[in-house]
Amino acid sequence: MMKHDFDELVNRRGTECKKWDTYTEDVLPMWIADTDFKCPQPVIDAMVKRAEHGIYGYPVNCKAFEQSVVNWQKKRFGWDVDLDWVEYTPAVIPAIVYAMRAFTNPGDNIVIQMPAYHPFHDIIPNNGRHILGNNLILKADGSYEVDFEDLEKLLSQKRTTMFLLCNPHNPVGKCFTREELTRISELCLKHNVFVVADEIHSDIVYKGYKHIPFGSLSRQAADNCVVCVNPSKTFNIAGVRTGAVIVPNRNKHDLFYAPLEDNKAYGRTVFGTLPVEVSYNQCDYYADQLLEYLEGNLSYLENSLSARIPKIKVGKTQATYLIWLNCKALNMAPQELQSFFLEKAKVAMNEGSTFGPGGAGFMRMNIACPRSRLAEALARIETAINNL
Ligand SMILES: Cc1ncc(COP(=O)(O)O)c(C=O)c1O
Repeated sequence: MMKHDFDELVNRRGTECKKWDTYTEDVLPMWIADTDFKCPQPVIDAMVKRAEHGIYGYPVNCKAFEQSVVNWQKKRFGWDVDLDWVEYTPAVIPAIVYAMRAFTNPGDNIVIQMPAYHPFHDIIPNNGRHILGNNLILKADGSYEVDFEDLEKLLSQKRTTMFLLCNPHNPVGKCFTREELTRISELCLKHNVFVVADEIHSDIVYKGYKHIPFGSLSRQAADNCVVCVNPSKTFNIAGVRTGAVIVPNRNKHDLFYAPLEDNKAYGRTVFGTLPVEVSYNQCDYYADQLLEYLEGNLSYLENSLSARIPKIKVGKTQATYLIWLNCKALNMAPQELQSFFLEKAKVAMNEGSTFGPGGAGFMRMNIACPRSRLAEALARIETAINNL
């Protein structure tokens, strides 16, 4: 079996890289959600071979892309997806916007769970819809629970037409259980609320937890949802801007897809669909080894914090490589926390209040990097805290 070297340090500076080229050389970037790992060798080889062909004209839709999405859902999660449920989208955020426009009207309410992935805070009002926040409940052990009573209140409002679920959840790292998802599905069906499930982090779920695709819950759940996927987080191909939706209900599929077809807004790119196909068809080995490596990074982080930096706590992370650090013991306001980590520790992370209610006092750290780099970031943070 192929073995990937996740310890390799790759210099990303000077490659128009948002993560690294946003900050000066003295800052270690641990923020935006891509990894510092090279993508799988079969992806690199396929891209090089395609590039060497020298002609990059209009691609034909030969269904190889859709088939690779079907294959991955079956292999990894046991979900039987039909080929004609799958459509190409230029990544997940555009897919969410298309769904919002297809299934809701301006002035409608859309429910999201707070704290929430920050672009959700923009795309909903920017499309003339209102955000209703269902605050996740923080428990003593650092894990989060759904406030179902509040959720039902929000779903039952007359103008609520969509629930945007983030499963697994960014930024709190929660992997929803089958029971939770079933209850969410039943409540949405009861109140006639359509579900958009953002499952971009579904491959990064730690031992003891299991990702359940929302559309696999039941026929009724499938008929009432769009599932958004993208191999970008796992295989580090976010820059090729290619994702997919799975829409099991034919009428809903057509509602979603007709505007794209009518506006001819479905053009793919040869360097977008190819890495997705190769990742999904040939790179299980990489996803498995990545998860193992991230488990190692997570234990390293947890052990380092409890032994050397006890003022920062991390709950039981269930999923994603975005770790939700509880920094409340530092007694700093959000702006202070951000500048402390950036200017004193020289580590760039996402400050918690940017994710909305429940985020103040937290920082989100991306641990998808070689362990030596994580060690360096923790050493810097330890020194900065000791100097306080
Ligand atoms: C929950 C979630 N959804 C969507 C995205 C962005 O996806 P895309 O690049 O496919 O638009 C991210 C990226 O961090 C994310 O964390």
